[in-house]
Amino acid sequence: MRKCAVGILDSLSLLRKIKRGDLSALLDITNEFDIVMLNLPGQKVVIPSSVDLLYDFFKADQKGLVKTPRAQHYTRKAMGVGLISTDKEEWREKRNACRGIFNTAELNGFTSTMDDAIHFLFSSGRVNAQLDVVMASITINVIGRLFFGDFSDEDAEKIRISVTKMMEPTFRRMISPVPFLVDPLNIRTSFYRKQMFDVLSANIISARRSPKPNLIRKYFAENDCVEDVANLFAAGYETTASATVWLLYELSRNEGIKRRMREELSSIESLEDYHKLQMQIPLTIACVKEILRLYPPAWILGRTSTEDILIGDMKIDSNTDVVLSPFVFHRSSKYWDKPDLFDPYRFFNDKALEHKYYFPFGIGIRSCIGEKLALLEIYHILFYLFNNFEFEIDSKKVAMNPHFTLKPAGSIHIQLKPKKNEQQITGTGTIRRPTLERDLSK
Ligand code: HEM
Repeated sequence: MRKCAVGILDSLSLLRKIKRGDLSALLDITNEFDIVMLNLPGQKVVIPSSVDLLYDFFKADQKGLVKTPRAQHYTRKAMGVGLISTDKEEWREKRNACRGIFNTAELNGFTSTMDDAIHFLFSSGRVNAQLDVVMASITINVIGRLFFGDFSDEDAEKIRISVTKMMEPTFRRMISPVPFLVDPLNIRTSFYRKQMFDVLSANIISARRSPKPNLIRKYFAENDCVEDVANLFAAGYETTASATVWLLYELSRNEGIKRRMREELSSIESLEDYHKLQMQIPLTIACVKEILRLYPPAWILGRTSTEDILIGDMKIDSNTDVVLSPFVFHRSSKYWDKPDLFDPYRFFNDKALEHKYYFPFGIGIRSCIGEKLALLEIYHILFYLFNNFEFEIDSKKVAMNPHFTLKPAGSIHIQLKPKKNEQQITGTGTIRRPTLERDLSK
């Protein structure tokens, strides 16, 4: 096993580069070694980049490894106590309580609600819009409508702003090597947390009284669930939105693939069943897999050892941070041919999904509970977009902005031109009249 211990100055310099959005030094060192140990003031950080070690780490999850306490602390401050911010027994109870929400049968029942949210957002007159904002509005709206039945665009916007304002500075602090004695984030976080929790609480009350089917009535009928719901919004919307933004961006730079995807999506009538999709839209599915390889939204997963643990033949001391990075594995020249190239066909040719170094949704017991929902949402957005619009996207090169999610740095614009058909087609095959005027007047 090739190990590398990085001195304190070089470790700080690597961290500075990551904070600036430059991930090339991280890739250089993890390509060369199987495990890298950073020495930061008062803290050791281990970054594995060999598949032989990866599974040992995930097996240790919740048995000697927990979510990094500093990350837990900041996430709880912003989002409260929920699935993403708990460990061990507390986490297990929450995971069991939410499991049913994300199973395939439940999700298949959600598709028309999902389509309503997508239809509403795309037909609300944003013909020239900032892509990340549109996609975030859609993914927040989808979660909002699933949980509450009804959900307004204004409330979605308040959530988007609150989460963005809380999480971006929080991430910088989480990866800062300097311990903070005073926490200037308190005032800002309290303000946006209150804004978000007020919106969620009001919607939870309405959902409990609403005659429309909704997840609050089904899964959180009695208990105080605002923090659980906040956790699900935070985990679910920006991840899915970022993946969709990157996909549309890469398609705009690969016109041939975009054309073939359009043909594929217009050749089927609906996306009704999650299980049937694999056969119906193979290129679209390969493109989504490829985008989650190149730009995994959850690009680093942080853990800390609570005791000495053995990984391979290597002892990891208690209180060591472990960074498991889908980005590092997905861009590794050890495992991928031309790792920086957008090439969805690799998922046709080399059975890449069976490789254990591809894990955009994590691995093991703490892997993503919302994976199927996220994929279904992305397929429905693409289906709706391609079947109803011609669209163009700024395709100049965009850098990465690594925060909680791996976002594009700077804004990307999308220009939508409705197709000249009279009706609009949704993912479930429902045909609607265009509703631009109606929606705009809301
Ligand atoms: C493309 C979209 C998504 C990606 C790439 C993604 C990725 C991930 C990853 C890698 C993890 C594991 C984190 C870790 O090990 O520390 C995770 C956890 C989680 N995800 Fe997702 N996610 C996505 C969408 C969603 C959606 C739509 C939801 C729900 C609305 C969701 C809810 C969660 C929750 C609650 C957890 C914590 C699970 C636990 O600790 O038990 N995610 N996600």
